[in-house]
Amino acid sequence: MSLTRFLLEAQHQGQIDAELRLCITVVAQACKAISIAVGKGALGGVLGDAGTGNIQGEAQKKLDVISNEILMDANAWGGHLAGMASEEMDHAVPVPKHDRDDDAKYLLLFDPLDGSSNIDVNISVGTIFSVLPYQGSGELRDEDFLQPGTAQVAAGYCTYGPSTMLVLTVGHGTHAFTLDREVGSFVLTTPNVTIPEDTREFAVNMSNQRFWEPQMQNYVGDLLKGKTGPREKDFNMRWVASMVADVHRILTRGGIFSYPLDEKCADKGGKLRLMYEANPMALLVEQAGGAASTGRQRMLDVTPANLHQRVPVFLGSRNEVEAAEKYHRD
Ligand code: AHG
Ligand code: MN
Ligand code: MN
Ligand code: MN
Repeated sequence: MSLTRFLLEAQHQGQIDAELRLCITVVAQACKAISIAVGKGALGGVLGDAGTGNIQGEAQKKLDVISNEILMDANAWGGHLAGMASEEMDHAVPVPKHDRDDDAKYLLLFDPLDGSSNIDVNISVGTIFSVLPYQGSGELRDEDFLQPGTAQVAAGYCTYGPSTMLVLTVGHGTHAFTLDREVGSFVLTTPNVTIPEDTREFAVNMSNQRFWEPQMQNYVGDLLKGKTGPREKDFNMRWVASMVADVHRILTRGGIFSYPLDEKCADKGGKLRLMYEANPMALLVEQAGGAASTGRQRMLDVTPANLHQRVPVFLGSRNEVEAAEKYHRD
């Protein structure tokens, strides 16, 4: 089944409306264009730094900027969106009045290129997106986006790896599509993705261990001793440093992913961004039977304070996330 047919059936079943179907279709189309740009590598002149910085305080890669422009251009008209927000843009960007319906219903948020530190070393990167209802009126404001993750009507990512895959939820399960490059369409390859309840692998950047809170030190110490859950001998660690790649592995074969508070990022509230990294991933993971938390609160219940808010992240196999939370409940 193609993504097009999947979305049409979702609309016929009343899970989405025509505007949301259009929004997801346009995002998927933009991800195909990003996949082509990423795939060109050095031949496309897309590697290396852009020479600019973003509001995160990061040096932007050329592909950060290119991917952001592809998504902005693709979604700038179509009538269904009131506005967009991105890791790479300081503030929300309204869709011009002449390009949108008066009753534009949705807001689109995205991390256009996730895993930027991996671009120049040819390791998988991705795009993460989230769709919220637009309930504002008048001029678009950042505040229109500050809704909890439970308000998301759709969320997904595209992973640019050996194959290009789109993983999507509209609130009725999590479903994986693989890009058929010959035809140019996404084909449903894993309906109803399900995360195993227990963990065989954990994903954390161990180089930050000395900067973690004691709660995290204790949790990982016990995790490594096999004390936090059933442990076969083949317990393993993976850290790709592209959230999309790490989460895709966990959705596919289980595990726990964590980017906890550490002294380096504690003043900012964490490393990963709530609105266009943690929340879309949290919805995908919960819809696949997993759990997602800040360690102290269900991720989807967090009330956002600002557009680029950062949070500590624990997500993946439900039993292991719950085990990690026990160490963080003071
Ligand atoms: P981005 O490239 O969009 O800025 O996100 C990078 C994030 C996330 O993808 C990944 O899990 C994490 O940064 C890796 O952080 P470290 O490099 O500190 O391991
Ligand atoms: Mn990212
Ligand atoms: Mn990014
Ligand atoms: Mn970045």
